[in-house]
Order: sequence, then structure tokens, then C-alpha cells
Amino acid sequence: VRRKKPRAPVTVRIDRLDPKRASGLDAEGRRFEVRNAPLDALVEAQPGRRGEARLLRIVENAADAPTPPCPVFGVCGGCQLQWTSLERQRQHKQALVERLVGLASHPIEGTAEAYGYRNKLELAFSAHAFHPEHEVPPSTGPAHLGLHPPGWYAKVVPIPGCPLASPRMNAVIAAVAGLRLGPGWDARAHTGHFRHLVIREGSGLVVTLVTTSTADPSEVARASRAIAAVEGVSGVLHVVNDGVSDVATGELRTVLSGSADIEVAIGGVALSLPYDGFFQVNTPGAALLYARIGEALGVGGTLLDLYCGNGVIGVLLARGFDRVIGVDVHEPSIARARANAERNAVRGAWYAGAVEEILPAIAIDRPLKVVVDPPRAGLHPRAVQHLAGLSADTLVYVACNPGSLGRDRPMLEAGGWRITDLWSVDLFPQTPHVEAIARFVR
Ligand SMILES: C[S@@+](CC[C@H](N)C(=O)[O-])C[C@H]1O[C@@H](n2cnc3c(N)ncnc32)[C@H](O)[C@@H]1O
Repeated sequence: VRRKKPRAPVTVRIDRLDPKRASGLDAEGRRFEVRNAPLDALVEAQPGRRGEARLLRIVENAADAPTPPCPVFGVCGGCQLQWTSLERQRQHKQALVERLVGLASHPIEGTAEAYGYRNKLELAFSAHAFHPEHEVPPSTGPAHLGLHPPGWYAKVVPIPGCPLASPRMNAVIAAVAGLRLGPGWDARAHTGHFRHLVIREGSGLVVTLVTTSTADPSEVARASRAIAAVEGVSGVLHVVNDGVSDVATGELRTVLSGSADIEVAIGGVALSLPYDGFFQVNTPGAALLYARIGEALGVGGTLLDLYCGNGVIGVLLARGFDRVIGVDVHEPSIARARANAERNAVRGAWYAGAVEEILPAIAIDRPLKVVVDPPRAGLHPRAVQHLAGLSADTLVYVACNPGSLGRDRPMLEAGGWRITDLWSVDLFPQTPHVEAIARFVR
């Protein structure tokens, strides 16, 4: 077998954040994306495929560089920016938003916490533990509980806890790890019983144990008792997944303890979310994001909340409007949006269906303001076409993927919309993610 000669290592000056990782130029002006590289550092990296390079060592880091607090930093892959100060992460995130959208942003905002901010963690049980240098034989006894390293869907990096999670979420991880549940799911052989542990935090913790239907009920009951005993746990659920794909969802079998709903209080408004419903993963950060959306929209008339999920934006901002109309393709979310609206005495209507189908088919009162909060892929071509021609006075585009906003912007402008403001909000310290909000007016 002829092996390809490895390319010589390169020295890269890391000068920007790209949507997935940090990148920089080598001495010949070639750009490489380097996972886990600190921003504004000089690094040595091994070139790989598609313009990526593997970090070998940091030659020189920024003067304000912190020490990564996570014992599995660099292996787990979730939080690539731990070697960069929060302030520097945010400067680069603002620059990323401005580059992708093509406009200057208001100074980036974010909450004070660099760690401990996540309200949702999805851990995997696995028969296979990841080791960077050698193969570890699969465990037929207790499962490994942890997170998948990048590119290894069948293996996990066992973790004792996660610095992004709250102390009580970490108490759940410690309690479950101590039970030595098994056997863990083997994604290669499609064997094993224990698959995922999902922890979500509202006013209480809702913990979901995902297993195959073959899991020993007495082991599931033992796990449930141990989880329910952790302070702050408000619900323990058992979900069954016999499919081969590695998703942390399935059929809700039993509410083993407490309630299946997540209760969230945000901006003085009480909302309830289903255990598997969408919510921003940083609750104080979400409050900041929604306040900025409110400022961008202004008040008066009808609010059209497109991609409304469980109705969070519409219900939170309803006080400034006569009525709210929400649209989302996910029927259980719309049912919950209706319930959240009723609970908060919000007048309006909630439609289940794709925005591109529903929008041309409904009558909407004027004056009208519109907020769109689409998934990462951005607006469907038919949705953007309809929105481009829609008669409304303000359109606010919320983008978890600023590149999608940059792509959809010229199509909205071709319909007569003019972008006036761009905001950047950092809800995800230590990761390359950033939220962008754009205001368009006619
Ligand atoms: C980023 S979430 C927004 C949730 C909500 N605005 C919030 O703040 O919690 C995107 C939402 O888009 C919905 N979605 C995806 N494709 C859709 C489509 N074609 N039409 C309507 N909704 C869609 C998903 O169900 C999801 O609830």
C-alpha cells in the first residue's frame, strides 16, 4: 500500500473566526481552518483536507489568553474557544456577523457568564470510549457516559460534568455516572440498551433517559429514583428509541417522576415548553436576545411571528401589539404556543404548517410588523419571495446562522426592504456560534 507523504506542518497566524472554527494564513498566504486554535495566536498546524489543519502547538498566544478549565478540552470538541478570552471571542463574533451580512453591527452583547450558561445538555451512553491514540475495547458491562468527539458518532469522551452546565445539571450527570448503567448503545453493532441522557433546565430540571425497549425495567426504575433524588429535578422521563439513527429522541413511554414540562420565566412572562421543544440554550442570553428583537420591532398593530416554535417571541412581546399571529411547521409546538398565549392572555391566531405554504394563504390585518426566526438553513426560497413582496412596515430577521441572513438579504432588498440595523448577540461563549438580528424597513 502506497501511503501519501504527509504534508509539512505550517505556521498559521490565526486572524479570524469562521462559522465552524478559527482560521488564519500561513507564510504563503494560504488560509487554513484550525479546530481549537486560539484567536489572534500563532500556531503550528498539520494541513489536512479541504483547507483544514490540525492544531499541533501554540507558538504564541494572546496576552489575555485564559487556561481552559475543562479537563477534556480539545478532545470533546464542543467548546473550541476556551483558549481565548471572552472579550476577544466576542470581537471576532461581531466581525464574523459583519462579514457575513455585509453591514456594521451594533457593539456585540452577551451575558456575563463565560461558563455555566447552558440550559440543555444531550449526553450519550456508549459501549465505546474515545481515546485519541489507541482503540479501547467495547464495554459489555457499564456504559461510558459522555459527549461525542467531532467525527466519532459511535464513541464518547466520558465526562464527569460539563463546565457549560449549571452545578445542579452536573449533579445529575454525577448521579447517573455513579449508577454504572449498561450495556451502553453500540452504534456499530446496533446492540446495547442505554442510549442518551438529556438534561434541560427551567425553574426545575427535566431529565430524559433514552433507552431501547429491551432495557431492564428495574435498571430504568433505579436510574429514575437516583435522578429524582437530585435537588432541583422536577421531572424524570423515559423515552424509547429502537431505531438505528443516533438521535436523543423517541417515543415518550413513561413520566417516571414529576412533570414532563419545562417551566421558564423570562422577562416576567411564564411559559411552558414540552420536554423536547425548542428553546434557546442560554436563558439569560435569550432574555437579552428577545429584548433586542423587541427594540428592533417597535410596537403597534399586528405582530406576525414566523417560525414561532412554542410562541416564545410572540407571547413575550405581545404587550406592544393588538394581536399576534404565529406560524410553525411543528404541530406540537403550535399547540404549546396556543397554550402559552392563552395562559398569558395574548390575543391572536397560531397556524401549524410551513411558512412558505401558510403565508400566502392567510389574511392579516395592517399595520403589520414581522419577525422571522428560521432554522440554520434560513428562509425557504418561496418564503423569502413572499416576504420580499409583503406589505408591512418592519421586518426583523433573527439568524442563528448569520450566513443565511447574508444570503437572504439581497432578495428582501430586491422587494423594496432596506436594512437599517444589525445586532450581534453572543449566547454561546466558547463556541463559534453567534446570533444576528437585522431590522428591515420599507
Ligand atoms: C430557531 S427555531 C425558532 C423558535 C422560536 N422562534 C423561539 O424563539 O423559540 C426555528 C423554528 O422553525 C420551525 N420550522 C422549520 N422549518 C419551518 C418551515 N418551513 N415553516 C415553518 N416553521 C419551520 C421549527 O419547527 C422551529 O420551531
